[in-house]
Amino acid sequence: MSLAGRRVLVSAGPTYEDIDPVRFLGNRSSGKMGFAVAAAAAARGAQVVLVAGPVHLPTPPGVARVDVRSAAQMHAAVLDALPADVYVGAAAVADYTPRTVAARKLKKRPGADTLALELVRTADILADVAAHPRRPRLVVGFAAETDELEHYARDKLVRKRVDLIAANRVGSADCPFERDDNTLHVFAADGAWTLGPAPKREVAEALLDLIARRLEADPAT
Ligand code: PMT
Repeated sequence: MSLAGRRVLVSAGPTYEDIDPVRFLGNRSSGKMGFAVAAAAAARGAQVVLVAGPVHLPTPPGVARVDVRSAAQMHAAVLDALPADVYVGAAAVADYTPRTVAARKLKKRPGADTLALELVRTADILADVAAHPRRPRLVVGFAAETDELEHYARDKLVRKRVDLIAANRVGSADCPFERDDNTLHVFAADGAWTLGPAPKREVAEALLDLIARRLEADPAT
């Protein structure tokens, strides 16, 4: 299904939260899932903006890319890129970031076996997009869960006030991080779908089919 004339905003990859000039807190997201969504949306004729955390992937053809590093930078870049018809939040955004970034490399302290870092919550990009005055017609979140996938995914659907949640099971042998294939369990208020297992590009196409059908079914779009 075509997305010609639609503006699609996608976030992808991890965020890096700096501790000092040498170290950071990160996660295992490669960006492949979000880049596949961006590439598939552009191939369907959408005008695509891709806000990417630190990843080693080429920019898909026809996609406008904004590179960021931290959760705060991703938050600013995503909100700056509004308005959009669709937001797909595939990034693995840090929930916590160090309260302060040390200006100099933290050194080992003689006699100290432990080091405590104070972390503070990051702003929730997905929830802020969903509550934004220029809210996209469709807001699609992702979820990475080790346990009770449907329970936590549906909780995010309601709590973050989004239209679809695409949940992955993580922590098992077929964990989607860094891999080329994935299975998404998609939940909405009115249904549930399993996409895959398949290459991430195919899974992205199936997710865009769901998105495009919803845009077409909504008379306000
Ligand atoms: O990048 P790959 O290696 O291809 O792997 C893909 C993936 C597993 C990273 C991807 O499919 C995925 O699940 N991304 C979301 C991972 C995640 O952070 O889930 P979460 O349950 O912590 O967050 C839920 C939602 O809130 C996500 O849409 C996330 O982007 C969003 N969020 C979270 C925290 C925050 N501060 N701001 C957010 O917008």
